[in-house]
Amino acid sequence: MKNRIDDILHRVQAEYLEELLPARDPLLEAIEKFAEDHDHPIADPEVAQLMRVLMRLKKPRRIVEVGTNIGYSVVVMGRELDGDAVIETIEIDRSILETARRFATDAALPCRVVFHEGAATEVLPRLDGPFDFAFIDCVKTEYGQYLDQLLPKLERGALIMCDNLLWKGKIARGEHDASTDALRDFNRRITTDPRLLTTVVPVGDGTGLSVVL
Ligand SMILES: C[S@@+](CC[C@H](N)C(=O)[O-])C[C@H]1O[C@@H](n2cnc3c(N)ncnc32)[C@H](O)[C@@H]1O
Repeated sequence: MKNRIDDILHRVQAEYLEELLPARDPLLEAIEKFAEDHDHPIADPEVAQLMRVLMRLKKPRRIVEVGTNIGYSVVVMGRELDGDAVIETIEIDRSILETARRFATDAALPCRVVFHEGAATEVLPRLDGPFDFAFIDCVKTEYGQYLDQLLPKLERGALIMCDNLLWKGKIARGEHDASTDALRDFNRRITTDPRLLTTVVPVGDGTGLSVVL
């Protein structure tokens, strides 16, 4: 999630692109309002729309999400999936996870959702895989570790989607702090690793799309 509408794009473009987003139904509207009221960092609506397009194109069956929060992205992805698909999602905070379960139940998703409570770096090694889609949206200093843990569990052709890769514009501005530096290294890695084909697009707070080769 970006901090301001013009963190990544010029305001005039960002506002125009927002006008092109589909209207939200009452449940998504409620989740977005809950996130805003309680300061939850859910994905931007334009990232959600990109996710829907990717779900329809890729039709994944085994999805792993690192960072559940209140289940916005679970609901967005889950609505596009078939009944035999599974989303395994990881969240460290029990009460946040309860909210996610509630919203996912309200959504009556066609797919199965497995909620894992715990630290992502501890849960990921316990997941079986193979997965054909991963959404990384969790602790910024740990993205590299998530990738290390995920890669052996991702099948060829799997897609890895990462949120916040432009990190509120801080990386390009040359700022330094633990998250900014870690994401700068991560971006360099995913755009040069011969096992991945990657593009980083200025959608939301910067979205990475990597195909596992
Ligand atoms: C950016 S939010 C995820 C947003 C969600 N993907 C969405 O778009 O609706 C990141 C979540 O990761 C959780 N989190 C923080 N540290 C974590 C950790 N070490 N392991 C697992 N989850 C963690 C936070 O509590 C937060 O809810």
